[in-house]
Amino acid sequence: MQFEPIGYVRCGKQLKFETPHQPKLDSNETNRIILEPDRQFDLALQDLNGFERIWVLSWFNRNQSWRPRPLPPRGPAKRRGVFATRSPHRPNPIGLTCVPLLDVDGLVLTVGPLDLVDGTPVLDIKPYIRTIDAFPDSKLGWIGEVEETLLNSRRFGIEVSAFARRQLDWLQNQWGIDFTGRAFELLSLDPTPHRTRRILQMGPNEFRMACGPWRLFFHLQDECVIVDRIDKGYSDESLMAEGNERIPDRDAQVAFGATYR
Ligand SMILES: C[S@@+](CC[C@H](N)C(=O)[O-])C[C@H]1O[C@@H](n2cnc3c(N)ncnc32)[C@H](O)[C@@H]1O
Repeated sequence: MQFEPIGYVRCGKQLKFETPHQPKLDSNETNRIILEPDRQFDLALQDLNGFERIWVLSWFNRNQSWRPRPLPPRGPAKRRGVFATRSPHRPNPIGLTCVPLLDVDGLVLTVGPLDLVDGTPVLDIKPYIRTIDAFPDSKLGWIGEVEETLLNSRRFGIEVSAFARRQLDWLQNQWGIDFTGRAFELLSLDPTPHRTRRILQMGPNEFRMACGPWRLFFHLQDECVIVDRIDKGYSDESLMAEGNERIPDRDAQVAFGATYR
């Protein structure tokens, strides 16, 4: 079997950390899927206008390995069989995303929120057919239990120390980098240590969350996550090492290191 991508996702999100685990239903972001030229895909797209949603089958090209029992990011730290999850680490790393179709113009599809990073190869597109594809009353398996627990569990407040606020403002103003939306969303749901959420316990009440190439240090107080400081994820040596030019946010990390020694 051999697949050729029919196109690529263009969404501006470079880091896996920036993308949600599933498309955010309440977001009004727009993204694009650009199909390859010279393959008659303009004809293949005919009649797609008029469908409100499409299925996008994609290839999780950033993953090189899979695990039979991954640790899902939501809920208690419990491994599940990969075929009972939507983990992107699969024997055939095929993604399946249902997304609103906003426009088709030539080879460019404008779509709603996605859970895929920029450049993800697209293998196929199919119309979402509500009368065939939707079974809203189906049992949710282990996810049903997790969703119920999350629904009833407390939300953590988020406070940012003055020092961390200065660091975050510096990143935003100097480099246009802001990972706090996704980080705070995850932390407010559950800040406890978790391998897939990449939260590590560093001391009795000190935790570190990896946000792509950045690190966010926090402690817990009552029902609140207190963000103490930010750090870069790479050492000076690896940032300067030849061949590592493609480290995400590399220049910003070098400048951050020089500013916050
Ligand atoms: C949990 S998967 C679910 C995807 C899809 N809804 C499904 O069920 O197949 C979505 C996650 O895959 C990761 N991801 C997105 N694009 C990727 C890519 N091109 N390669 C590897 N991982 C990717 C991101 O971390 C994102 O949060």
